[in-house]
Amino acid sequence: MKFFIDTANLAQIKEAQDLGVLDGVTTNPSLMAKEGIKGDANILKHYVDICNIVTGDVSAEVISTDFEGMVREGEALAKLHPQIVVKVPMIKEGVKAIKYFTEKGIRTNCTLVFSAGQALLAAKAGATYVSPFIGRLDDVSTDGLTLIEDIRTIYDNFGYETQILAASVRHPMHIIECAKIGADVATCPLSAIIALLKHPLTDSGLAQFLKDAGK
Ligand code: E4P
Repeated sequence: MKFFIDTANLAQIKEAQDLGVLDGVTTNPSLMAKEGIKGDANILKHYVDICNIVTGDVSAEVISTDFEGMVREGEALAKLHPQIVVKVPMIKEGVKAIKYFTEKGIRTNCTLVFSAGQALLAAKAGATYVSPFIGRLDDVSTDGLTLIEDIRTIYDNFGYETQILAASVRHPMHIIECAKIGADVATCPLSAIIALLKHPLTDSGLAQFLKDAGK
């Protein structure tokens, strides 16, 4: 399973990259705002800065909600860097834009997906990635992981090549369950990736080994 980091924070992206297990980055307008990145030129430069840190795909989201605007923005984003994947919301105009980008050879990430039907439409339009938001579903008492299972079944039934990118991941068990189900990618906060390596028996075992090594 690929690991993406879900942030626009360059220090965190560098830290995950230095760990040697990072396969890509996802961003969204809220994550960009959180880092104080404002204005078109600064936003575009920030995407290039991210691409220069990592070797994998970097999702950059359009903010238009009409087909023409999405196409204009997406084409400009795709020209920025070969690692850019254009992130498009799951709305009617978004499905049309994904189909357009697919025909033009521009890679897409269909975002804000909360149902199997939406994921099916994203795959039919040719999305490179589909992003089901599992944490936000859990937040409203709906099991996000069941959605990942349903999408896996549907995509496998028909051989859709769209990659399932589990998003809105909140903790290490989300990552482990997504790996068991067979999600292609999990995009995670740095804290969830770091939490995977923690175990108290590792810490106490290492402390004992170091103590014994000194004898
Ligand atoms: C996905 O690409 C989104 O950026 C993200 O995972 C949303 O996560 P949140 O629900 O923690 O905002």
